[in-house]
Amino acid sequence: MSRPAENTSTTVGAGTEEGSPSERLLFGGPLLHDTGWNKHERAYLEMSLWAMASSLPRLVASTVRLAWRADRRALWAVGCAEVLHGVTQAIGLVAVNEVLGAVLATGPIADRLHAAVPALIWVAVTSLVGALAMSASTAGTGRLEPKVERVATEMYLERVIRVELEAIEDEDFHRLLDSAQYGAAGARRMIRYCTAVVGALVSFAAAAGVLTVLHPALLPLLLLMTLPRSWAALRNSRTRYESFQRWAQHARAGRLLSQTLIRTDPAPEIRVHDVGPFLLGHFRSMSESSEGEQTRLARSAAKTRLIASALTGIATLVTYLALGGLLLTGVMALSVAGTAVLATRSGAASLTTLILQVNSLYEEACYVMDLERLCVEAHKRAIPVGGLPVPDQPRLIRFEDVTFTYPGDSGDSGTRRPALSGVTLDIPMGKIVALVGENGSGKTTLVKLLAGLYQPGEGAIRWDGQDAGALDRADLFSRFAMVSQDFHRWPLTARMNIAIGRTDGPLEEERVEAAARYAGARKVVEEMPRGWDTLLSRGYKGGHQISGGQWQKLGLARAHYRDAQILIVDEPTSALDARAELEVFEQIRQLAQAGQTVLLITHRLASVRDADLIHVLEKGRLRESGTFEELTDNPPVGIFRDLYEMQRRQFVDEQAAALPGQRKPADADATETSREL
Ligand SMILES: Nc1ncnc2c1ncn2[C@@H]1O[C@H](COP(=O)(O)OP(=O)(O)OP(=O)(O)O)[C@@H](O)[C@H]1O
Ligand SMILES: [Mg+2]
Repeated sequence: MSRPAENTSTTVGAGTEEGSPSERLLFGGPLLHDTGWNKHERAYLEMSLWAMASSLPRLVASTVRLAWRADRRALWAVGCAEVLHGVTQAIGLVAVNEVLGAVLATGPIADRLHAAVPALIWVAVTSLVGALAMSASTAGTGRLEPKVERVATEMYLERVIRVELEAIEDEDFHRLLDSAQYGAAGARRMIRYCTAVVGALVSFAAAAGVLTVLHPALLPLLLLMTLPRSWAALRNSRTRYESFQRWAQHARAGRLLSQTLIRTDPAPEIRVHDVGPFLLGHFRSMSESSEGEQTRLARSAAKTRLIASALTGIATLVTYLALGGLLLTGVMALSVAGTAVLATRSGAASLTTLILQVNSLYEEACYVMDLERLCVEAHKRAIPVGGLPVPDQPRLIRFEDVTFTYPGDSGDSGTRRPALSGVTLDIPMGKIVALVGENGSGKTTLVKLLAGLYQPGEGAIRWDGQDAGALDRADLFSRFAMVSQDFHRWPLTARMNIAIGRTDGPLEEERVEAAARYAGARKVVEEMPRGWDTLLSRGYKGGHQISGGQWQKLGLARAHYRDAQILIVDEPTSALDARAELEVFEQIRQLAQAGQTVLLITHRLASVRDADLIHVLEKGRLRESGTFEELTDNPPVGIFRDLYEMQRRQFVDEQAAALPGQRKPADADATETSREL
């Protein structure tokens, strides 16, 4: 296989429309996002300086609101410190003016110096108070920033955990989620920029006030000096933001490659299949593409800054020439000119800072706006709250002509096959109901619809006649315990892996123990280095790894700990050894005897012998329903019967192939299983 690292030069700067070879090979196409610019992205890029300035109060207000929620006292401290700092600067400038006036006056030098002493004391006091105010502001900002980031993060997380599963699986929602995550960090940085903007505004006002008093012509000259830098800052940050939006997915894909190389779960395959150098080569290739973009950005920024510096030099020259003119014509005294130079320098610095910070504020605001958009979108796609109560002791759940198609792009043919079509079936409560069928026949989809994770596109799911769509969803979820096919392996302790099944009450140790015993996980836990406190995640201190079957036992224990009305077990024994499998099915039988409803999905057809009702799905349609006997005895042919016969023959052949003397002990379990068949 060709390795991209060997010919990376061809991919450098390959941010082309068809994408770099790495993008095409690994991700199926270009990852640059260049279409469908959303409204605010365009809005930012088309924004004029004036439009930015006029919406400044709104932006500052939204940051202040976040900070207010995060820490009011720190916000007050920062606000007061910044205003105080500005006031000291203004008083300081006036005092400097006094000092220069006194020193440059006529008379003996000792008298002149003496006359300047009170003003000098003012200069010293204002510098000291100014410095104290600055450090108070720095301390307050440092306290405020992490809190604002946390509040912003919580703001979107608390909405995201309540959206429909469909939204979480949606690509557009995910893209928004990705960029909104920058918004939380953006909100944190906005605090610094806001503080700097307020500080620079007050300082500028002080300098501008002093300059206007000295001579009205000086203020426009000051503005002229700062214009080129403002233009450069605005231009550069727009280019950066545009580039960020275009390259965001590409950057994420690059991070995905590097993360994959250090994660623990793909580590064995990376080594045995020697995938490491291959992925590393593509990582380098993708990085080189984005390095090309960074170089382009840096060049463009350097060019803009050079032009701006030249223009600023000209403007500064004009200002000092004007000052000289005022001096020469006697319009301005030498002492006043000295203050004017100081005020011009201080004012120009404040104004440049102000414009740079406003610009940075806008750049960050774009990401924060993404976060706000995500909150709005998450609210729109939230799982509805409220509804009719779910019947306390329902007797029957009925699927009525249910059709469901997964949302998403419709592919080349333009149409998507429904995952379920026109399914009508019964799930009687207090029974074991089995769902069987080939891979992709819709079994998992059906139970997800049953649990309220998706809503049927057509038809209805009725609980004792009541449409589930009208039922309170939180109430509905509370009725289910689920061991899904891809159940989550929580990177937490063994105890928590079971107790996380029910988090709405205090953790009950005895029930955790009982659940572990039920699922055959007690021995697994006993053998762990730190028992219940063993962390089941390699790569952390004390982290421990368990086998796939051991995980499955913990998953089953978790569902048992949840203690819900309906237990959904989707392939609960796929990773279990024959003995553990038999035990699990025995436990399921006992649960049903105690009145629990169990919905069992399995490919081991012998295990559904005890089910009260078996539904057979094929390509999203219900093909057969009945008890094990009905499905195997009566029909001369049938899907279930065929599949069952196939599995049975396989066992019989295996048994015949093994000579009695060659039987291994493990075959004893297989014999036990085949006896069930
Ligand atoms: N989240 C999803 N988004 C889009 N399509 C999906 C999703 N999950 C499943 N599908 C599609 O829906 C169909 C039914 O899938 P489902 O997972 O329900 O099958 P299954 O009967 O559980 O199969 P298996 O025995 O392999 O677990 C398949 O064609 C599958 O590709
Ligand atoms: Mg499945």
